[in-house]
Amino acid sequence: MLLEIKNLTKTYRAPDGVHGVDVLRDLHWQVAPGETVAILGPSGSGKSTLLNILGALDGVDRGEVWVGGQDLAQLDEKGLALYRNETVGFIFQLHHLLPQCTILENVLVPTLAKPGADRGVLKNRARELLAAVGLEHRLHHLPGQLSGGERQRVAVARALIHRPRLVLADEPTGSLDRDSAGRLVDLLLEINATQGVTLVVVTHALDVAQRMRRMFEIEHGQLVERVACE
Ligand SMILES: Nc1ncnc2c1ncn2[C@@H]1O[C@H](COP(=O)(O)OP(=O)(O)OP(=O)(O)O)[C@@H](O)[C@H]1O
Ligand SMILES: [Mg+2]
Repeated sequence: MLLEIKNLTKTYRAPDGVHGVDVLRDLHWQVAPGETVAILGPSGSGKSTLLNILGALDGVDRGEVWVGGQDLAQLDEKGLALYRNETVGFIFQLHHLLPQCTILENVLVPTLAKPGADRGVLKNRARELLAAVGLEHRLHHLPGQLSGGERQRVAVARALIHRPRLVLADEPTGSLDRDSAGRLVDLLLEINATQGVTLVVVTHALDVAQRMRRMFEIEHGQLVERVACE
């Protein structure tokens, strides 16, 4: 399994420090390498919480999270930084591009933490990725000069710069119209098909979810598989 979650429980403490909110309860989950998976669920059901835990951006109260044979709880700070930066590619709902940096520089941001890396090689890869998402003519534009769909494609390129094994996308099409959303999903599925990257996509859009091989819904803090209707 690329991804294995055992007995995961996540509770947020309330500001009064007494009443907690149980978001994920004794959750078990497995995802095979190369799989494409959608996570559905109402607002507040814990989708972003789960994705943040998988991306090692948030911790757990109980349980184990294994990715690529690694127990995330066993990683030290350096291991966690490497994991966040290189093993996973994270696409946020609000793309989180740096407004003062060009598109090309934005794609290279994850590589700045790697002092020994060959800048020329990385720059070429960033150019190739931007070409693959159809933005080869926009390398030196700023994010503010692009449309929402174009910015989201920059975020996809940035997530792929280190050839991650796992791409986590939180509502990647949330701010896009239907056509742009469809093209972004095409792009993600193409990356999955050509590079074997495992894809976990959180979405409210059923048509986006139905294009993934498996669909899950968060219900009462657990993931329940939904059987696709053809
Ligand atoms: N840092 C936090 N402190 C306290 N409670 C939190 C925190 N982050 C999230 N929550 C609560 O945990 C629950 C799950 O939040 P989460 O963001 O995972 O939901 P979601 O399924 O992603 O929702 P949406 O579809 O609206 O993005 C919500 O009730 C939320 O209020
Ligand atoms: Mg969310």
